[in-house]
Amino acid sequence: MWEFGLLAIVASVIAQDVDYAQFVNPFIGSEGAIPGYAYGGGDVFVGGTLPFGMVKIGLDTYEEPVNQSALNGGWTPKGHVTGISLMHVSGTGGGPKYGFPAQMPLTTIDGDVNLLDNRTYWQTRVGNDVASVGYFRTAFNSGVTAELSASRHAGLQHYTYPSSSEKHVLVDFSHYLPHPTRSWDSQFYTGGEVEIHPNSSVYTGYTSIAGGWSIGAPVTVYVCGEFDSSPAVARTFKGKNTFPVSRHFRTFDNSTTPQPTFTGSNARSGPMNDRVGAVFSWTNTTEVKSRVGISFISVDKACAYKNSELSSWSIETTAKAARDEWNRDVFSKIRVDTSKSANKTRLALLYSSLYFTHLIPSERVGENPLWESDEPAFDDWYTMWDLFRNQVSLWHLIQPTYYEKMIRSLIDLFKHEGYLPDGRSGNYNGLVQGGSNADNVLADAYVKGLAGRVNWTDGYAAVKKNAEVLPYFDQNPVDPQGSLKEGRSALDDWIPLGYVSADRNSRAVSKTVEYSLNDFAVSQIAAGVAPGDRDLYLRRSAGWQLSWDPEAESRNFTGFVMPRYANGTFHKTYNITNCGDCNWSDESYEGTAFEYSFVIPHDVERMIELMGGPSHFETRLDYVFQPNTSGVDLGVNGLGITTINNVANEPDFQTPYLYNYLNKQWKSVERSRQLSNDFYFNTSTGIPGNSDAGALNCWLIWQMLGLYPIVTTPVYLLESPWFSDINMTVNHNHTLRIRAHGLDDGDGKQGYYVQGVSINGKEWDKNWFEHEDAGGIMTEGGEILFRLGSEQKLWETGDVPPSPGHQVVDVGQG
Ligand SMILES: *[C@@H]1O[C@H](CO)[C@@H](O)[C@H](O)[C@H]1NC(C)=O
Ligand SMILES: *[C@@H]1O[C@H](CO)[C@@H](O)[C@H](O)[C@H]1NC(C)=O
Ligand SMILES: *[C@@H]1O[C@H](CO)[C@@H](O)[C@H](O)[C@H]1NC(C)=O
Ligand SMILES: *[C@@H]1O[C@H](CO)[C@@H](O)[C@H](O)[C@H]1NC(C)=O
Ligand SMILES: *[C@@H]1O[C@H](CO)[C@@H](O)[C@H](O)[C@H]1NC(C)=O
Ligand SMILES: *[C@@H]1O[C@H](CO)[C@@H](O)[C@H](O)[C@H]1NC(C)=O
Ligand SMILES: *[C@@H]1O[C@H](CO)[C@@H](O)[C@H](O)[C@H]1NC(C)=O
Ligand SMILES: *[C@@H]1O[C@H](CO)[C@@H](O)[C@H](O)[C@H]1NC(C)=O
Ligand SMILES: *[C@@H]1O[C@H](CO)[C@@H](O)[C@H](O)[C@H]1NC(C)=O
Ligand SMILES: *[C@@H]1O[C@H](CO)[C@@H](O)[C@H](O)[C@H]1NC(C)=O
Ligand SMILES: *[C@@H]1O[C@H](CO)[C@@H](O)[C@H](O)[C@H]1NC(C)=O
Ligand SMILES: *[C@@H]1O[C@H](CO)[C@@H](O)[C@H](O)[C@H]1NC(C)=O
Repeated sequence: MWEFGLLAIVASVIAQDVDYAQFVNPFIGSEGAIPGYAYGGGDVFVGGTLPFGMVKIGLDTYEEPVNQSALNGGWTPKGHVTGISLMHVSGTGGGPKYGFPAQMPLTTIDGDVNLLDNRTYWQTRVGNDVASVGYFRTAFNSGVTAELSASRHAGLQHYTYPSSSEKHVLVDFSHYLPHPTRSWDSQFYTGGEVEIHPNSSVYTGYTSIAGGWSIGAPVTVYVCGEFDSSPAVARTFKGKNTFPVSRHFRTFDNSTTPQPTFTGSNARSGPMNDRVGAVFSWTNTTEVKSRVGISFISVDKACAYKNSELSSWSIETTAKAARDEWNRDVFSKIRVDTSKSANKTRLALLYSSLYFTHLIPSERVGENPLWESDEPAFDDWYTMWDLFRNQVSLWHLIQPTYYEKMIRSLIDLFKHEGYLPDGRSGNYNGLVQGGSNADNVLADAYVKGLAGRVNWTDGYAAVKKNAEVLPYFDQNPVDPQGSLKEGRSALDDWIPLGYVSADRNSRAVSKTVEYSLNDFAVSQIAAGVAPGDRDLYLRRSAGWQLSWDPEAESRNFTGFVMPRYANGTFHKTYNITNCGDCNWSDESYEGTAFEYSFVIPHDVERMIELMGGPSHFETRLDYVFQPNTSGVDLGVNGLGITTINNVANEPDFQTPYLYNYLNKQWKSVERSRQLSNDFYFNTSTGIPGNSDAGALNCWLIWQMLGLYPIVTTPVYLLESPWFSDINMTVNHNHTLRIRAHGLDDGDGKQGYYVQGVSINGKEWDKNWFEHEDAGGIMTEGGEILFRLGSEQKLWETGDVPPSPGHQVVDVGQG
C-alpha cells in the first residue's frame, strides 16, 4: 500500500459544458459484413433514449432475405419499416426481444392496405436516416418524415405528411419484433386491449407479448398515447391472430391474413388473443405529434409519465434534454481533449463506445410489476455472460450511483425469484449460456468495496444458492440436459465430480471453465461474509484442472481443457480447434477448447504451468494471434477474423492481455492495439460482431484508457492509453487522471510502448495495480502517468499480476 498520493485530487462538481455527444456515431455496429444487411453486425439499437432508459424509441424493420437478417435492434440498414416502437434492447443475439408498443404513420389505409398485414403497408426509406444522441429522423417512401426522441418512460414522435396525401397513424398493439428464422425463441402476441378516449386524441390500453430470447412469460405493457390535435376519425379494430408463431392460440391453415373488424372506440382481445389496434386520421394538418408513455404497472402511470416527462411537444426540446443528460451523466465522466487538433476518429470511438455501454440494462425503478419492494429495479440483463468480463467494472468506476442500484436490484431479484439472473429480459430470467455469471458481477463489486445500501449477507446468499442448488429443468427445447433459465444446470456433476461431464451435461468444456471462476467469485465474497465457506469454494474453483487433459494435443501444443466423461476418461477425439455449432447442445459454447484453455483469470499461474511454463505458454499465446489458424469458419459473422483468438467474442476478451503475466507487457500492448485497429472503426460495420449490450464497445474503452480489469479481483492491468490526457470521474466525485507522455502513434512511429509508469508520483515497477493502491487510486483519484516511446521495452521488474485462486491439482502425466 502506498501512502495517500500527493496528486490525489478531489474534484469539485464542475458543470461540464463540452458537448461530447457531438462525437457519438449511433450507427456503429448497425451493419454486418454484407453491405446493406444487419446480419453479423452489432445488432445495435438506433433511436432515441436516455442512459439505461426504459424507453428506447426506434424503427422496427423487416429485413429480407431473412437468412441475412438480424432484427434484434429493430433498425436495419435497408429493411422495410413495419412500425415505430418504444422498447428495444441493444447489441443482442438470439431471439429478438420487444419492439412494442408501436405506431406507424400511413398515407393510405384503403385498397391494398390491410392493417393486419404489415407487408401491405411497410415502408422503404428515402435517403439516409439521421441519428444523434437522443434524436432520430427518417423519411419514408410514402413521403412521411418521422422524427423521434425520448424521455425515460415516454417517447415523442413528430410526423410530417405530404400535404397532398391522407394522414393516418396506425396503433398496432399486436406488433413485436419477430424472429423469422426460428420459432422456439421467437416472441408471440398473447393479447391486448385498446380504448380511444372521448375527444379522440388520447388512447390507452395494454399489450402482452411472450417469448423471445428469455423464452419469457408474457410481458404486459400499459400504454397511454396522445396526439397533439384531435383527429377527424378514430377507430379501434380487431382481427384473428394468424401470426405464424401464434400456433399456441390459433390456426395452422394457410388462409390469407384476415381483414380487421372495426369496433368503434375500444377493442379487446378476448379468449383467442385477437389482435387489437386503432387507426387515427386527420384532414386538416400535415404535422402530427404524438407522445406515448408506457408502464409495466398501470395505464395511469403511463399517462403520468407522458404528461410529466414530455410536458413539451417539441422534438428539439426533448432531444436537447436527452443530450444534456447523456453529456452530464455519461460522456463527461471521461474527458479528453476535444479541441480542433484532437483526433476526431478517436473521439468518435471513445464517446460512441460510452454511449453503447449505457443502453442496457434498462432502469425500471418503480416499474417492477412482479412484487412490492423498496429496492431499485433493472431489467434487460442481456446478458451477464457479456457484461461480467469488464463492463460492470467500468460502471463501478464511473456510474457508482446506477451501479449500486443495479447490484441491489440483482439481489432483490434473487430474494423474490429464488435465483440471480444470468440473462433477464421482459421480467423473466433466461438464458444461461454457461455459468452463473452474476456471481462474478457481485464479487467484482464486493472486492472493490461497493457498499452503500447493498446487503452483502443477502448478496452472499444469492451466489451461494447458485453454487449449491440445482435449478428446476425449464423444459427448454434446445438443451434436454439442463435448465437455461437460471442457476447452474450442471451442479449434479460439478459438486460430486468437481467438473462438468461431457456425457451427462451439455457444454462441458465451457461450463467447467465458467463454474471455476464462479466458485472463485463465491469464495471472494465468502472471505468477508462467511469466512468458514471460503476454502470450500476456493477448492472448487480449481475444477478446471480436473478437466485438463495433459495429453490432449493440437497444433503441436499439449495440454488443454477437454470434455471429460463422468467415468473420468476424456473425449480423446474431441476437436480442440473446432467446436462445431458451438451452441447449447455442444461440448463447448461459443469457443473452442483451444480458446477456453486460456480463460482462467483467477489462476493464470497454474494455467502457465500446465501449458509447460512461461516460454511454451508464450509460444502458444503468440500462436493464437497468427492469421489463418482458426479451425472455426465464422463466415460473414466473423468479419474477417481468421485467428484462433476471436476478439469478437467475450471468452477471448482477456487473452491478448495475458502477456502481462509474463512481464512482457509490451506484447499485450502490441496485440491489443493491433486488434483494435483491425476491427474497430467509426463506421456502421465498426465492431467485430454483436455489441452484446455494449460489451465489445467496453473492451475498446478499456483499451483506450490503457487499463484492463481482472474481474472478481481488485486488479487492473496497465496497458497503454490512446490519449495523452484523460480525466475520469470515479467514485462519484473524484478525478483519476491518466496521462501519457510521449504518445505518438499517428505517424507510423508507433510510440505507444510503455517505457515506465508512475502512480501518484511514485515509480511503479509492476504492470498492474489494485483498486485501493497508492492511497486509493480508483476511489480517491490521483494520477497514473505513462511514459511511452517506440522501444518494445521490458520495463516491469516487479511481481507479475497475481493469481489469487492459485492451486495445484494433480492432472497426471503431461
Ligand atoms: C442467403 O440466401 C441466399 C439465397 O437465397 C444466398 O445467396 C445468400 O448467400 C445467403 N446468405 C447467407 C448469409 O447465408
Ligand atoms: C409482419 O407480417 C408478417 C406476416 O404476417 C409477420 O410474420 C411478421 O411477424 C410481422 N411483423 C413484423 C414486425 O415484421
Ligand atoms: C383529451 O382528453 C383527455 C382526457 O381524457 C385529456 O387529458 C386531454 O387533454 C384531451 N386532449 C385534448 C386535445 O383535448
Ligand atoms: C382539425 O380538425 C379537428 C377535428 O375535426 C378539430 O378538432 C380541430 O380544431 C381542427 N384544427 C384546425 C387547425 O382546424
Ligand atoms: C402452406 O403453404 C406453404 C407455402 O406455400 C406450403 O409449403 C404448405 O404445404 C402449405 N400447407 C398446407 C397445409 O396447405
Ligand atoms: C484534466 O484535469 C487537469 C486538472 O484539472 C487539467 O489541467 C487538464 O486540462 C484536464 N485535461 C483534460 C483533457 O480535460
Ligand atoms: C441484510 O439482510 C439480512 C437477511 O435478509 C437481514 O437479516 C439483515 O438485517 C440485513 N442487514 C442490513 C444491514 O440491513
Ligand atoms: C508441428 O511440428 C512439426 C515438426 O516440428 C512441424 O513440421 C509442423 O509444421 C508443426 N505444426 C504446426 C501446426 O506448427
Ligand atoms: C467412459 O464413458 C464414455 C462415455 O459414456 C464411454 O464412451 C467410455 O467407454 C467409458 N470408458 C470407460 C473406461 O468406462
Ligand atoms: C478439426 O476441425 C478442423 C476444422 O474443421 C479440421 O481441419 C481438422 O482436421 C479437425 N481435426 C481433427 C483432429 O478432427
Ligand atoms: C462526493 O460524493 C459522495 C457520494 O455521493 C458525497 O457523499 C460527498 O459529499 C461528495 N463530496 C463532494 C466534495 O462533493
Ligand atoms: C486518428 O486515430 C485513428 C484511430 O486510432 C488512426 O487510425 C489515425 O491514424 C489517427 N489519425 C491521426 C492523424 O493521427
